[in-house]
Amino acid sequence: MVTFKDPEEVFTPRSPKVNEVMYISRPDLEESLIGVLRGTKHLIVHGESGSGKSWLYKKVLKDKGIKYEVINLANAARRGSINQAFQDFLDSQTETVRTGYSESKNVTLGILGANSQLDHTNHFTSPPKEPFEELLKRLNSISKNKKSILVLDNLESILDDKTLLSELANLVTLLDDEIYSQYKVRFIIVGVPNDIGRYFSATPSFTTVDNRLSEVKEVFRFTERQTKELVFKGFVQELGLIQAKDPFIEEVSEHVVWVTDRIPQRIHEYCAQLAWEAVDKKRDLMKSDLKVADRKWLEASLNKAYLTVAASMNEKVTKVQRKNQVIYTLGQTTKSGFRYSDIEAELKQYFPRSTEDTQLNISGVLSSLAAQEHPLIRRSPKGDVYVFSNPVYKMCIRCMLKISDKDEKIIQRELHTLNDLDEYLY
Ligand SMILES: Nc1ncnc2c1ncn2[C@@H]1O[C@H](COP(=O)(O)OP(=O)(O)O)[C@@H](O)[C@H]1O
Ligand SMILES: [Mg+2]
Repeated sequence: MVTFKDPEEVFTPRSPKVNEVMYISRPDLEESLIGVLRGTKHLIVHGESGSGKSWLYKKVLKDKGIKYEVINLANAARRGSINQAFQDFLDSQTETVRTGYSESKNVTLGILGANSQLDHTNHFTSPPKEPFEELLKRLNSISKNKKSILVLDNLESILDDKTLLSELANLVTLLDDEIYSQYKVRFIIVGVPNDIGRYFSATPSFTTVDNRLSEVKEVFRFTERQTKELVFKGFVQELGLIQAKDPFIEEVSEHVVWVTDRIPQRIHEYCAQLAWEAVDKKRDLMKSDLKVADRKWLEASLNKAYLTVAASMNEKVTKVQRKNQVIYTLGQTTKSGFRYSDIEAELKQYFPRSTEDTQLNISGVLSSLAAQEHPLIRRSPKGDVYVFSNPVYKMCIRCMLKISDKDEKIIQRELHTLNDLDEYLY
């Protein structure tokens, strides 16, 4: 039975608000975060874009009953100072308070008019505090003097700016000061790079700052099971587009694992696309919908992906083109995490003649691919496997590269000739 629920209510790739119904628990990360929260240091939460950092801290802080406010550092970058971003935040908050105040004043006017006048005057006798302290005070008050958190999200947006980094380092140091520490607020600093501490090394207060920071485990991709849980929740429980006992659900979830490489944001994006194929036609999900969704998904980012893959290939027509052979093989693999030995075994099958009796050094090629400026692949946090940095690359590789039968060299199809994507993908 089709419920006709809007897929966008279920699959929400860009929602800042955590949807409790669709939240997939991540016990290891949640425990890591809770552990660091128990300490006295500020926290660093890092991981690639779309990996679920924001949902993670929001969910954990809410479950733990810890009050928090979020400041988007992209706003600080735009405004030229973190304190200015604090001020903007405070202004947006007082806006609502002010409306409430004038309403209540209207009601009581005439009876308490004189008093409210008096309150008003009193309010301005103490000098206004700087935005940082004002914000801490506010957090302290909404948390009723319990410990609370000020989240500074999207740190990557200020990493190029030495002034802003110094300002941040100063804020961290200031929090040790009695005037500020009385408010019992700690920072959670959230960002993409895996060596956030290093960025403070250029600031004068580096050692102090470094001593005050604790890292949560890297927020990486979902496991295969978590991905399948999300697909099941969405398609079976929420949208009713697949019946619970239908073995088709297994096929769909495995396909989603392959297409999205288990990145939470990508899973939501692709699943929303897929769900529309059925909802638009007012019927259950069908096998043929997968193909259509794949094509639309690839088309949406084909140009960019094509350029990135092309930039990673051997420029000169070297004798063997080992790097290009590796890239070709990466595109064919069905694993969403791969070791060099996996790639080596597959590569030998595609290129039997040019790999005979030769040392291949596939691990060297993989690590050089991962070290490029816009890398096709990256290592997992444990370092034991590689993954595509963007899952769309593998689909792109499937369409753009083929093997020449003559000499096992890689032929690159021109971008404008890639019309029938379906034909290349399967
Ligand atoms: N634990 C989760 N369970 C289900 N979906 C999630 C989870 N974490 C993230 N998502 C999905 O991924 C999207 C991106 O997550 P977000 O936390 O904003 O990533 P980041 O902050 O790391 O860029 C969210 O909008 C949501 O759709
Ligand atoms: Mg985020």
